[in-house]
Amino acid sequence: MKSATITLAVLGLAQAAAAQQAVTIPYQDAEAIALGEAVYADHCASCHGAGLEGEPDWRTVKENGLRPAPPHDETGHTWHHSDDQLFDLTKHGLTAVLARRGIEYESDMIGFGDVLSDEEILAALAYIKSTWPDRVIEMHDKMNASQ
Ligand code: HEC
Repeated sequence: MKSATITLAVLGLAQAAAAQQAVTIPYQDAEAIALGEAVYADHCASCHGAGLEGEPDWRTVKENGLRPAPPHDETGHTWHHSDDQLFDLTKHGLTAVLARRGIEYESDMIGFGDVLSDEEILAALAYIKSTWPDRVIEMHDKMNASQ
């Protein structure tokens, strides 16, 4: 009985640590970017566009009530989110992320945690970030540093 309690406590700690885990998008790592470009083409481009341009008319809610996929270039708001938020959102999906905050929300942005490894998710985000102009990368780096 005692060991079961300890195991549960350890598991609880591990989960707390996982929730706080900070990731860094390796946007200056050429290998990660190359892997990410392939991951992006296979798993993200169908919605977010081959050139990261997003769906046409992406600011308008669709007839089914869901939001279209926004661009990942500097015209979208991907760069408004920290590395941790981008990773969390891509791994778990928007519905799950908002459910944790008690918000019920349906979205086409599913989680890729069952399909892609953490490394592949970070690589896809690295590819995206590597395409941003320097001033956007700088703003994003500053925001990450202040988190
Ligand atoms: C089936 C379509 C689809 C695919 C495939 C898809 N996404 Fe999305 N994604 C969306 C939609 C739709 C949204 C906007 C969700 C909303 O606002 O409800 C979104 C939002 C996002 C956001 C948040 C952007 C922001 O500005 O807030 C990120 C980051 C993101 N996707 C990353 C990815 C990555 C990385 C991949 C590939 C691994 C991917 N997505 C694949 C549809 C998709």
